[in-house]
Amino acid sequence: MTTSLRTRAEAAGRIMVALDYPSAEGAGKLLEQLSGIPCYMKVGMQLFYAAGPGFVASLKDKGYHVFLDLKMHDIPNTVKGGAESIARLGVDVFNVHAAGGKLMMEAALEGVDKALTGLGAGAARPLVIGVTQLTSTSQQVLNDEIGLPGTVEQAVVRYARLAQEAGLQGVVASPLEVTQIKAACGAGFVTVTPGIRPAGAELADQTRVMTPAAAFAQGTDYVVIGRPITGAADPRAAVEGIIDSLV
Ligand code: C5P
Repeated sequence: MTTSLRTRAEAAGRIMVALDYPSAEGAGKLLEQLSGIPCYMKVGMQLFYAAGPGFVASLKDKGYHVFLDLKMHDIPNTVKGGAESIARLGVDVFNVHAAGGKLMMEAALEGVDKALTGLGAGAARPLVIGVTQLTSTSQQVLNDEIGLPGTVEQAVVRYARLAQEAGLQGVVASPLEVTQIKAACGAGFVTVTPGIRPAGAELADQTRVMTPAAAFAQGTDYVVIGRPITGAADPRAAVEGIIDSLV
């Protein structure tokens, strides 16, 4: 199934820029370079552990949609508390590991409910999504180290179903698994896909990659792109080039 993107703004809104920087200064410089382009911004653990809630608040003040990619995985009560704190930050999307189990994912949703009760009627509900099998996991690591049988694809689809059963609204997965996830969980179940490389970009440590256009042709809802933008000589031209490939 193809996700059709009609306007440049619509395409930009489906591109999650991975702000993988060690400080607010580095990320701030990129934001200046991309000023006026309405991309989604993804804050992961490197930046959040360094710059914290204040940086997230500054992104929201600038009008960005924010995906807080902290991949929580702990006992349900702790994840519930973490989710409550995250929901209070006003982010649009955050995630927990599906490997933490159904109770843990349900606890994350309870934490969101608790935060929203405190925030009042106007507060928007963040999308909570599950991390399936990390795109860096090879077949050998899955079977021999993690101890899960079967293929990576089977593990991903099983995690996606579990996340859906727990009430989550989507998952993070490789674009190569989008078709199977949508078949198993329905077209409305959101997929967020890293492992994206525009044609000609360096792969770095991503191995199972797809171009942005191919990922949307698979039906993905959002693509996560880091180094092809953050490491480009001209990040603004890199983003514009990706948008050109989508509209
Ligand atoms: O630089 P690159 O485009 O490879 O960045 C990908 C981003 O997506 C990183 O922030 C990484 O943490 C994140 N990610 C990933 N694979 C997953 C989940 C998240 O690459 N399975």
